[in-house]
Amino acid sequence: MTIAESAVTSETDPGRGASGAPAPTGKTYLRIERLSKMFGTFTALHDINLEIYEGEFVCFLGPSGCGKTTLLRAIAGLDIQTSGRIEQDGQDISALPPAERDFGIVFQSYALFPNLTVAKNVAYGLENRKLSRADIRARVAELLALVGLGDQSDKYPAQLSGGQQQRVALSRAIATSPGLLLLDEPLSALDAKVRVHLRHEIRSLQQRLGVTTVMVTHDQEEALTMADRIVVMNQGVIEQIGPPVEIYRRPATAFVADFIGTMNFVPGVAEGPDRVRVGRVELECEASGIAPGAEVTIAVRPEDIVLQDVEPGDENTFEVQIGSMEFLGSFFRAELTGEAIADARLRADMSINLVRRHGLEEGRRLHVKLPRERIRVYPQSTING
Ligand SMILES: Nc1ncnc2c1ncn2[C@@H]1O[C@H](COP(=O)(O)OP(=O)(O)OP(=O)(O)O)[C@@H](O)[C@H]1O
Ligand SMILES: [Mg+2]
Repeated sequence: MTIAESAVTSETDPGRGASGAPAPTGKTYLRIERLSKMFGTFTALHDINLEIYEGEFVCFLGPSGCGKTTLLRAIAGLDIQTSGRIEQDGQDISALPPAERDFGIVFQSYALFPNLTVAKNVAYGLENRKLSRADIRARVAELLALVGLGDQSDKYPAQLSGGQQQRVALSRAIATSPGLLLLDEPLSALDAKVRVHLRHEIRSLQQRLGVTTVMVTHDQEEALTMADRIVVMNQGVIEQIGPPVEIYRRPATAFVADFIGTMNFVPGVAEGPDRVRVGRVELECEASGIAPGAEVTIAVRPEDIVLQDVEPGDENTFEVQIGSMEFLGSFFRAELTGEAIADARLRADMSINLVRRHGLEEGRRLHVKLPRERIRVYPQSTING
């Protein structure tokens, strides 16, 4: 069994993420059980188990090809799963065609009808709902006002910016007040500034409407800033489910640790449930469940390495030399090497104040500390880089 599989199957309590963090309380709105999807002999999704709570904003995050869109399309009924079950609001929807499911969807490409005005695009989903013309007009006006396009209703899609077109797509998706909003990389075709702005708009709109939302993204910053919970996927399996802070602080697998943010990985040997040896240094850290003598990889984030007020001889303290320093605007990222840690390299972040106050520069030797609660220990076999 791979680590990824164990992360999924170990999720015995469906009310908890794979990380063990409590999920938001509330009613399960979407339940996915043992879902698999094959394309020919290729397994795109493998035994996916996931619960999404009412009103929650969940992001599917993972590298290209990991199965995010496939999972979203299975939820929508656009690509029926090979096996497994999907339940929405207490109803088994596994075999329902898309038209009989209750969702609105926005794709990466705007997918608006180019020959229809903005108002007609938004009205499209409302037209076979037995509403009067006046009701449709009022609803369209309300929806466009909601996304800040109240004065653009007579324009055609080509006359709008990319960000405006995605707002139209969003208001079309929520026009019928669906129970579930599905977004597949809705921001990735937009330039950086519009993207950041629309993140906030989508999130606050979602909160105002209270609509349960699943957004696919491969942009970790987007997931970290927008999601209540993130589902990290890799090669068709779920690696971890949890709130952003949990995913960042306590990555369940080396894959997650590597994929989210910047992480230092250093090889070591487990010496006990709370001890790992790296070179000559004995590091106190949480290593329970790993057999003494086993090769492991320890992981620590650049911002968690302590560079000031470190007393030689303290727990988890050793001497390093500053190799190079990269100026990144609001801080420096230094490359440290330590004989004591078998010449392993560590990237460490140093504030500009710290650098100035201590006159830190390339070649300087200093003591650093790796706080025990900030060290993650992974079985050796999980590391590929
Ligand atoms: N219709 C299809 N036929 C065959 N293989 C497919 C089909 N759709 C997807 N796949 C394969 O399934 C895997 C998952 O694809 P999917 O589109 O879900 O990835 P993704 O995580 O959304 O990636 P991206 O970030 O690039 O959009 C990929 O290896 C892809 O090549
Ligand atoms: Mg995709």
